[in-house]
Amino acid sequence: MANLVPFWLLLSALLAPFASGDWNILRPKKSHLDLGDSLKVYCESWRVNVELNNVKGFEVVPQECISHIKKYMTSSQYTADSERAIEEVKLYLSTCCNLEGDGTDAWIFDVDDTLLSNIPFYKKHGFGGEKLNETDIEEWMRSSKAPALEHTLKLFNLIRDKGIKVFLISSRGEDLRSPTVDNLIQVGFHGWSALTLRGLEDEGKEVQKYKIKARQRLVDEGYHIWGIVGDQWSSFEGLPTADRRFKLPNSMYYVA
Ligand SMILES: *[C@@H]1O[C@H](CO)[C@@H](O)[C@H](O)[C@H]1NC(C)=O
Repeated sequence: MANLVPFWLLLSALLAPFASGDWNILRPKKSHLDLGDSLKVYCESWRVNVELNNVKGFEVVPQECISHIKKYMTSSQYTADSERAIEEVKLYLSTCCNLEGDGTDAWIFDVDDTLLSNIPFYKKHGFGGEKLNETDIEEWMRSSKAPALEHTLKLFNLIRDKGIKVFLISSRGEDLRSPTVDNLIQVGFHGWSALTLRGLEDEGKEVQKYKIKARQRLVDEGYHIWGIVGDQWSSFEGLPTADRRFKLPNSMYYVA
């Protein structure tokens, strides 16, 4: 031990000029990170933890992260992340399933931000940075103007063409059935087996519980649910579930 002392003395002497303030050799100041960079790191970490379902039930995107979320949701990264998720579904479908082939094979899709993109709406409402106004979003949904998420549309067609029945389970209300169907058809979705929307008896119920009930009904009818594609954790959690669940990115809102 004693023979180490001169080394430490030498080291302290060498470092003395840098030893001002709170500088510490083990914790050097991150001078290479300016404020913008550290905000970007902070907001990206928030976004990833939303996807991981660690950040739950947020009402609005944190104000300081609105521009980060806007950048992400309109970036080629968002498109690539969504496409990758769909590629993984295709990979799964190519090997996974001994399809029953008797009309009992089933697949579930969410509607909003899974089949239809609400980005044009959120673009006008701070990308989730504004508290959602029910009147405004319903008006948007009634306009039937949401574009398709193109990669999900291709997957939808592939699954349906395999003879798997496609079930759409959405947290939209039953009163939006007609504009929702119009919107889906206009952008190219055809041939689903049923569209489940929230009726009066499901109003006020947590979306997760409503979706569990919808899946239970399919299982009771004898369906084998091979997979779910959705953008919300409330579409996956609870039993019965599907063999696999595929999450699309969405950091603009959280449906509990
Ligand atoms: C929601 O938006 C409408 C107009 O689109 C407005 O009249 C109403 O006050 C808003 N509601 C809330 C709670 O902000």
